[in-house]
Amino acid sequence: MRGGIMHVLVTGGAGYIGSHTVVALQEAGHDVLVYDNFCNSSRIVLDRIEQITGRIVDFIEGDIRDRQKMDALFAEHDIDAVIHFAGLKAVAESVEKPYEYYDNNVGGTLSLLDAMRTAGCTNIIFSSSATVYGNPAKLPITEDFPKGAPANPYGRTKSMIEDILIDIQAADPAYNVVLLRYFNPIGAHESGLIGEAPQGRPNNLMPYITQVAVGALPELGVFGDDYDTPDGTGVRDYIHVVDLARGHVAALQAVEDGCGLGIYNLGTGNGTSVLELIDAFEAATGQKVPYTIQPRRPGDVDALYADCSKAQAELGWTAVCDIERMCADAWRWQQANPHGYEA
Ligand code: NAD
Ligand code: UD1
Repeated sequence: MRGGIMHVLVTGGAGYIGSHTVVALQEAGHDVLVYDNFCNSSRIVLDRIEQITGRIVDFIEGDIRDRQKMDALFAEHDIDAVIHFAGLKAVAESVEKPYEYYDNNVGGTLSLLDAMRTAGCTNIIFSSSATVYGNPAKLPITEDFPKGAPANPYGRTKSMIEDILIDIQAADPAYNVVLLRYFNPIGAHESGLIGEAPQGRPNNLMPYITQVAVGALPELGVFGDDYDTPDGTGVRDYIHVVDLARGHVAALQAVEDGCGLGIYNLGTGNGTSVLELIDAFEAATGQKVPYTIQPRRPGDVDALYADCSKAQAELGWTAVCDIERMCADAWRWQQANPHGYEA
């Protein structure tokens, strides 16, 4: 570490949140090494990051489960901290292929942690999720809520990895561990150069909306209008991915300051329903989003939104982008890249 500049290994740095975080880290002056096996991302993203920041992105192609490669990486690079995004994240796929999810997410994290231990690297920031709260008893959600029962194997991998990291930090106070519980990241970098590029039909709401708006899909299905919410559709805490990325830079500062264990919600604190998001998108972009009401999706909850005052008080971080900005940036990205990176 040199004068607050850290050398950061970003696993999964070519992915949606990872790529925006690499931009934020480089813009904050940190040195970044991306490690990714590109199982859910494109190499083109690295060129796009370089266009935005004007800095080269060092990267190594590899799998976090490849211990030899991980050991070689740590032997050759003096890594101050790891930001760990690498993992599989499709909820429905995790129900069909649980082994792949436990192996990649939990097994991969154990492999990474063992390589870090061998190298003496004790600083890690982990991508967790609001899914660890299950169906909370009240709202907004604070970090001291008991963890719930996640509805699927994906969610259980996140909860297990949290427990592993908490135990490791408790056993050795040299560790600085930050668990970031993301709410619903959407949007894209304002340049339109990087954004969310799901493979196949999107599972999540915003990429589905933008693909309907661009004409790639005929209409949106709204999953249920009989939830216990003001308009009956599901309410979530959507957060701009660039705000989320800045949250990682703030967490890195906490790690440098020797935070021990830190657990933070990253959201905006505002709940937005599916119909409100469609309205906001139409207002921000002038595009119509045709939709029909469909049955509820299994595993969905009525409403989830965060209390983010802990991140504000302890990390000095707060989300600044509103829902219109999230929609406008998602649309700019989708228009410029109608088929994602591979077009
Ligand atoms: P993403 O799929 O775009 O990015 C994940 C990256 O990790 C991809 O580039 C993929 O190629 C890489 N990867 C996967 N397995 C790997 C392995 N074994 N070795 C090396 N690289 C591997 O996903 P994202 O939306 O950017 O999410 C990043 C992290 O944040 C994930 O851990 C995800 O579970 C978590 N998260 C995401 C959301 C969300 O809404 N996107 C919400 C909560 C938590
Ligand atoms: C989902 C995952 C969650 C994961 C998160 C980020 C489920 C049950 N949960 O969260 O574990 O951490 O993505 O990857 O999959 N909706 C529609 N039509 C659509 C898509 C979604 O109406 O085509 C609705 C949903 O019912 C929900 C809201 O939009 O009310 C948001 O859905 P989505 O974007 O998938 O996020 P979550 O379900 O909150």
